[in-house]
Amino acid sequence: MGSENSANDVYIGVDLVFGRRVSWNVETSPSQHILVVGPTGSGKSIAVSVLASRLGRRFDAPITIFDIKNEYGDYMRLFLGRPFNVWNVMHTPIPLCTCGDDENSLHYDVHLFVTTVNSVFKMPSYTREQLYDTLVRLCKQCDEVTLEEAVPSHLLTDEYESLSTLFSVFKVYESPYNALNMLLERDSVIDLHKLFLLDKRVSAITILYIVKQILKKSRVFFESRISRIVVLDELWHLTHYAVDEFMNVLVRYSRGFGISLAMATQNIDDLKPYTDSIVENCGMLLALSSASQSYWLKLARYLNLSRKGIENAMRFSSQGTGVLRIYPHEKPFHVYLDPFDE
Ligand SMILES: Nc1ncnc2c1ncn2[C@@H]1O[C@H](COP(=O)(O)OP(=O)(O)OP(=O)(O)O)[C@@H](O)[C@H]1O
Ligand SMILES: [Mg+2]
Repeated sequence: MGSENSANDVYIGVDLVFGRRVSWNVETSPSQHILVVGPTGSGKSIAVSVLASRLGRRFDAPITIFDIKNEYGDYMRLFLGRPFNVWNVMHTPIPLCTCGDDENSLHYDVHLFVTTVNSVFKMPSYTREQLYDTLVRLCKQCDEVTLEEAVPSHLLTDEYESLSTLFSVFKVYESPYNALNMLLERDSVIDLHKLFLLDKRVSAITILYIVKQILKKSRVFFESRISRIVVLDELWHLTHYAVDEFMNVLVRYSRGFGISLAMATQNIDDLKPYTDSIVENCGMLLALSSASQSYWLKLARYLNLSRKGIENAMRFSSQGTGVLRIYPHEKPFHVYLDPFDE
């Protein structure tokens, strides 16, 4: 904390009370994950874009952003300062497998896919097994058949619409070209805006599947440096549809893998009943401004905010201002996160 004197320090914002620059030492932090909360318009998405960009530059680590409002392209253009690609899953489907994959990795990918789908759709075991068998068969054949056509319709019953949307964004790739590999190597904004509008459960499955693939493909470093940043904005979206799966990811995206999750959500209650576990798994909590006392009362114990601190927090009301807690330090800071300050 304090001045940036270590290679692992990342600048966060200016202390509004003492005028000092506050930074986060990732090395001494109990976790490399970040949680930003705040009412609509308080500056969460900007804060997450800026923090992810600073982490990405500091650690020379690629950033993967799940963008359900189609806003991160603009933000990253402003803040990142290096090229990135935008992947619209409605135009370029996600590889479920590639023809010629070896047996193990093919089964692994299909298993990952089916368990992810099941975590949101809760399919009966018979349907799950049939889906698994069908997908393995399709992955082994190198036909140019779409999953949508190939999955037997009797499988789909109640979820017909959703599953056909799902299968329009996943594909058996024939060539070794793999969009997932490209995603891992470069900074990417995954544009899920249309998919999210079309079917929120399918966009939740899509995010979870990619997030789990990132884990599979990440090398294990067992060191404190960050080797990848994953941005999950509108976190309620995942916690609403698949909270257990999300918790699993949060815990498994541990320091050993060098993956930092930068998360944002409007209300701490969105995370119930896992609020405590989620906050405990973060190294930094930034609560952006609100004039509502009940908002601060709910956050007070996570921020270690006193009655006086709450009064102060309510006075700093402009966008990008808020209360920052850097764990394990006890004292919270009233900060302003200036997107253009470096
Ligand atoms: N740090 C900042 N400094 C100055 N202005 C900011 C800052 N953060 C956000 N703003 C302004 O507030 C607007 C809303 O910010 P942003 O989209 O990040 O809010 P949000 O909390 O993500 O909102 P929502 O809940 O609707 O997604 C921005 O377009 C920008 O004009
Ligand atoms: Mg936002």
